[in-house]
Amino acid sequence: MCGIVGGTSERNILPILVEGLRRLEYRGYDSAGVAFKKNGTISITKNKGRVEQLAKKLNLKENQSNLGIAHTRWATHGIPSEKNAHPHASKNIFVVHNGIIENHNELKAQLKAEGIRFSTQTDTEVIAHLIKIYTEKGQSFEKAVFNTIKKLKGAYALGILDKNDPEQVIGVRNQSPLVLGKGFQENFIASDVMALSPVTNKFVYLDDGQVALLNHHKTVVKNASNQTVRVKTHEVDSNAYTTDLQGHNHFMEKEIFEQPAAVKDSIEGRLTKNETQEGIFGAGFENAVKDITNIQIVACGTSFHSARIFEFWSHKFLGINCRVDYGSEYQYQEPVKTDKTLLVTISQSGETADTLSSLKFAKKTGNPISLAICNVANSSICRESDFTLLTNAGPEIGVASTKAFVTQLTALNLLLLTLMRVHGCLPSARKRITKALNELPKHLEKTLKQTDVYKKVAKQLFKKNSTLFLGRGLYFPIAREGALKLKEISYIHAEAYPGGELKHGPLALIDKDMPVIALVPDNEHLDKITSNIAEVAARKGKVFTIGPLGKTKITKEGGHIKIPKTLDLLNPIISVVPMQLIAYYTALFKGTDVDKPRNLAKSVTVE
Ligand code: F6R
Repeated sequence: MCGIVGGTSERNILPILVEGLRRLEYRGYDSAGVAFKKNGTISITKNKGRVEQLAKKLNLKENQSNLGIAHTRWATHGIPSEKNAHPHASKNIFVVHNGIIENHNELKAQLKAEGIRFSTQTDTEVIAHLIKIYTEKGQSFEKAVFNTIKKLKGAYALGILDKNDPEQVIGVRNQSPLVLGKGFQENFIASDVMALSPVTNKFVYLDDGQVALLNHHKTVVKNASNQTVRVKTHEVDSNAYTTDLQGHNHFMEKEIFEQPAAVKDSIEGRLTKNETQEGIFGAGFENAVKDITNIQIVACGTSFHSARIFEFWSHKFLGINCRVDYGSEYQYQEPVKTDKTLLVTISQSGETADTLSSLKFAKKTGNPISLAICNVANSSICRESDFTLLTNAGPEIGVASTKAFVTQLTALNLLLLTLMRVHGCLPSARKRITKALNELPKHLEKTLKQTDVYKKVAKQLFKKNSTLFLGRGLYFPIAREGALKLKEISYIHAEAYPGGELKHGPLALIDKDMPVIALVPDNEHLDKITSNIAEVAARKGKVFTIGPLGKTKITKEGGHIKIPKTLDLLNPIISVVPMQLIAYYTALFKGTDVDKPRNLAKSVTVE
């Protein structure tokens, strides 16, 4: 989603802004732009398309600047175009924005009535006009910003320049992420730490309602009432934010192959020989969850799928009722009064607006113990939660989530084990799961070796229009994740069904042109899924099966992909790997943009 980078420095800032935009590309965008100070005036360069084209247009050899704001836009209001690309200007004021101004129509109507003419279709343009009007009334740049944000409803992170105050950049955060990066004789704002990691390792994570005022030697952070606030500067490990492909062709490929190491990092220091270490969820967690009677999970997309797997684990191993909701739906339901609830949010980015607002909603309407399972330390969701367990996957740049999913499941398994210990479940079961979790990286490693097999399947998929994924029980969320991976990066329609639902409708779709990928577990669902596969084969559907058992007799036309066998509760984690790679190779054969699939964003910061 939209990305912001801006700042002021004693040195030339343009290469820093462009590199910042490159590092924000992973979030997803359709256009980009920069406003920078040059010879006492502010110039704008914008472009529909890639940051690389913008960099060429900017003519970095000729142009130099000490102050600027830059932006990657993911269209919400108004088509992707150069005109709608940010920064937006109103005379002396220049604005970049991430988020949605919900009352922009109302503000636009008021401004139009005052004679203001709009030149874009964006919601952002109102902000530039409002600030300009206040400065024209004689207010300082800072005061004009404060008065403007009082009028805005919705989510926004802003970077703002005033041509008449040419030493200052102002950043504002309200429900959309913004960090302040502090350097020597230079200061910056950005949507995330990664954008600035080549220039500083010192960051302030702004809170909602805070305004950052920066020039090249000083930063001041104020609250919405214009009072200066003390903020904590965090030192982050900038090396963790490498954007190097390390020999891979795409970030998605790199991240898939990093999964064994990512799982190791996820469990590192968190397990004893027999169970989880005490205190890994933070001081007080185990005491807080000892008498929970409910677990409510909220998440979106891939993270939602990991939640659905935990739901099974919770019912089977804890006997605790677990409910899973989409972030975009949860907050619109009437809150049901429950006994003591553990509210778990799962998010790779920690910034997903739907999940974040659900968390805030749950805290407002009930009194849950909140736990974030998240990959980004200090992200909004972590800061909003009582407890956090970081998944430790390392930065995930490919838009399609892969290692984040596998490490979310690892972290959820640590949650399961911890709750099993706190609730007195059988030590022998905890020991068995712990052993299997420790062995997971080895199994993933082995599964990653069969690339030829995955390529063969992909060759048979890439010309198809539609595919069906089948799973039952624990494997149904995995089938959904497989379908999501394929559709998002190859644009092939992919749907997932519980095997038993086939005969209730989707069987009508089956013919020789509909490949079916079926997950075949070694558990109580084996016979039933085998029958479902037979139903497909009888209608000439080509079935590819994935599972820990040897070749089955049913898959005549497609083929069987054998994966290592582990405990049934962990086998779904292994079975996602073939589907990730099948999706990846299918997209390669189709020639789609694997790391930046059309219309999608990595960090979805609008609701
Ligand atoms: C799919 C994908 C998305 C995200 C979803 C939630 O590959 O990446 O479906 O899983 O947007 O994002 P997070 O986990 O950052 O909250």
